[in-house]
Amino acid sequence: MKRFLLLLIVAATLSVQAQTPADAKMNAFVTALMKKMTLSEKLGQLNLPSLGDFVTGQASNSDIANKIRQGQIGGLFNIKSVAKIRDVQQVAVEQGRLKIPLLFGMDVIHGYETIFPIPLALSSSWNMKLIERSARIAAIEASADGINWTFSPMVDVARDPRWGRIAEGSGEDPYLGSQIAMAMVHGYQGDDLSKNNTILSCVKHYALYGASESGRDYNTTDMSRIRMYNEYFPPYKAAIDAGVGSVMASFNEVDGIPATGNKWLMTDVLRNQWKFKGLLVSDYTGISEMVNHGMGDATTVATLAMRAGVDMDMVSEYFIKEMPKVLSRGQITLARIDEACRRILEAKYRLGLFEDPYRYCDVQRAKTDVFSVAHRTEARKMAPETFVLLKNQEGLLPLKKSGTIALVGPLADNKENMSGTWSVAAKLDQAISLMAGMKEVAGSTVRLLHARGSNLDYDSSFEDRAGMFGKSLRRDPRPKEVLIQEALAVAAQSDVIVAALGESSEMTGESSSRTDLSIPQAQRDLLEALVKTGKPVVLVLFTGRPLTLPWEAKNVPSILNVWFAGSEAGYAIADVLFGDQYPSGKLTATFPQHVGQVPIYYAAKRTGRPLNGPWFQKFQSNYLDVSNEPLYPFGYGLGYTTFKYGPMKLSATQLKGNQLLTVSVDVQNTGKSEGKEVVQLYIRDVVGSVTRPVKELKGFKKIQLAPNEIRTVTFRITPEELKFYNSDLKFVWEPGEFEIMVGASSDDVQRVTINWQK
Ligand code: BGC
Repeated sequence: MKRFLLLLIVAATLSVQAQTPADAKMNAFVTALMKKMTLSEKLGQLNLPSLGDFVTGQASNSDIANKIRQGQIGGLFNIKSVAKIRDVQQVAVEQGRLKIPLLFGMDVIHGYETIFPIPLALSSSWNMKLIERSARIAAIEASADGINWTFSPMVDVARDPRWGRIAEGSGEDPYLGSQIAMAMVHGYQGDDLSKNNTILSCVKHYALYGASESGRDYNTTDMSRIRMYNEYFPPYKAAIDAGVGSVMASFNEVDGIPATGNKWLMTDVLRNQWKFKGLLVSDYTGISEMVNHGMGDATTVATLAMRAGVDMDMVSEYFIKEMPKVLSRGQITLARIDEACRRILEAKYRLGLFEDPYRYCDVQRAKTDVFSVAHRTEARKMAPETFVLLKNQEGLLPLKKSGTIALVGPLADNKENMSGTWSVAAKLDQAISLMAGMKEVAGSTVRLLHARGSNLDYDSSFEDRAGMFGKSLRRDPRPKEVLIQEALAVAAQSDVIVAALGESSEMTGESSSRTDLSIPQAQRDLLEALVKTGKPVVLVLFTGRPLTLPWEAKNVPSILNVWFAGSEAGYAIADVLFGDQYPSGKLTATFPQHVGQVPIYYAAKRTGRPLNGPWFQKFQSNYLDVSNEPLYPFGYGLGYTTFKYGPMKLSATQLKGNQLLTVSVDVQNTGKSEGKEVVQLYIRDVVGSVTRPVKELKGFKKIQLAPNEIRTVTFRITPEELKFYNSDLKFVWEPGEFEIMVGASSDDVQRVTINWQK
């Protein structure tokens, strides 16, 4: 017993010693504050309702204001404008009993008012500085307008493009996704959360949300733990290692228990294994939805969430309603409620809100720092790095700034769809359409003719569903033949046709799953008619997900995938079309040939019957009707110049223990213009105690080269890069043979086999 006590004292001393003076100060402050709080006030901190927008001045009279005064609210989200937020904060800190400031959250996903390309596009830049900068600017703008908490980054690995939310993340790869998660957290939070231009970041949706069965949103997920740890967990963990201040639970179930009520996920993994110390918030009605999942009544599910480790209840209001009862029945401890409350108060403390509740309410800054010319200029410059040139026959692109160009398609002259999904704070009507961008960039030397050519889709009800949140494409009521004829008439007068086609902005994002991954039929008919004219056609492809484009890949001379490029989209696309900028994005999610191949991803396992050789082979793993190949693989993307890779050079091929392996390759720009190349490193663990993927991304470098310039790109590999979770879920590396691969995309690599012993 004595020894045990001694151990306890030592442990306590150590943990006190491990605390920084700043942490100790925070703990003392929060402890003192919590001593004054009633149970009801503590539960109030756990309550995060969404506030529909209201007019300035209404705040103090609203129902919400009464709740704030009574200490029933810990934070709010979905209010826009510094004046309104200031009003609401004033109610909290001047009329609330304990004057506790509120958190103000928002989905600032890819920019605030200055909108950057959608996250899937940003990931295609493979440029971590650029991504971090986009998050930095988003934080500068949001914080200037009163927001101190963003529900970003979304790091769900997604390998099923039917799932509309693939647009919000970084694609299919855990390694790349982890790098991006870190960059974004740093971008939002900076190195000091209490500065007035840094905000609390929230990594979401923990966990596995990207693996919804059949790509249908909110659907069931089910996977082995070994897959979770190796393929789906890494980006969440990377965000936590980078110091993210909050985590959002996902809607889906994990191992048969909804994530929101899953103690293994929320406490054993997140808190105990990964040492996450910040606040854990449910997703929107994530707690009450557990009733629909079949987990029990309101009391039961609230208890489940609280016991699992959820600290804050987004929208359900179940914690505040149910916990007094649950506590009185002894089904939850006060210590757990205290812990949840403490984490929310700590977040507020770290943001500096107790010191100055109006820290993020500088009306002056809101006037200068939001949607500024400087930020918009940066957004325009970033976008070309996210564009993926999928095809460019005979160097059709870039276009000359002369002659006549026919610009056609339902996305050619539309501002509202340029920003893409989750652009809550965007000024949609101030985004730059492709037509406006082309006019300005080409100037008077180009004759630009325009025709709509088609609607988004023949089915007007589909078009309604795909045009929500003020993002309608404004349907043209004329018959389809008339629309196509008009486009052909314009095409007949032109030297080249630019077809702006694809998805509308709201065809991806939340609750925007599709079973068909092609360009809608109305637009495909238009495209076929345009191609038939024999004039050169450039397809400017708008999309928030990988699409199936087999016909287009074969028949359209040039395809420039521009995703949704943000508020400056039109300028940025025009810059690239006319060669003032060049595209340098590479895919981060595989483009399938056919939707039936989904899920399709490069880091697949070999199976016992791999297809070695040409398709089709009976009794090998393949399809009767479509080959196993993707249409465009992970890591693929062209530019306006070409690159040549020299042979790989390795510092050794027989290694031992913690030795360092360097792998280098000379890359030369063999074209006539400057360009950027993403040099990719993959590793295959040839034999393992568990099956290992055919290759896994383990490094990448984006380089810029002038014509003829040669650069040596070097990667450093240690046993760390060889590690994986084995069947005991231990993170280990196993000695033996490894294939080291370097190349321009996941299916264009050179490889050398090495042997690495312990
Ligand atoms: C989404 C989250 C989002 C939240 C708040 C939910 O429906 O799943 O990603 O952060 O709403 O707007």
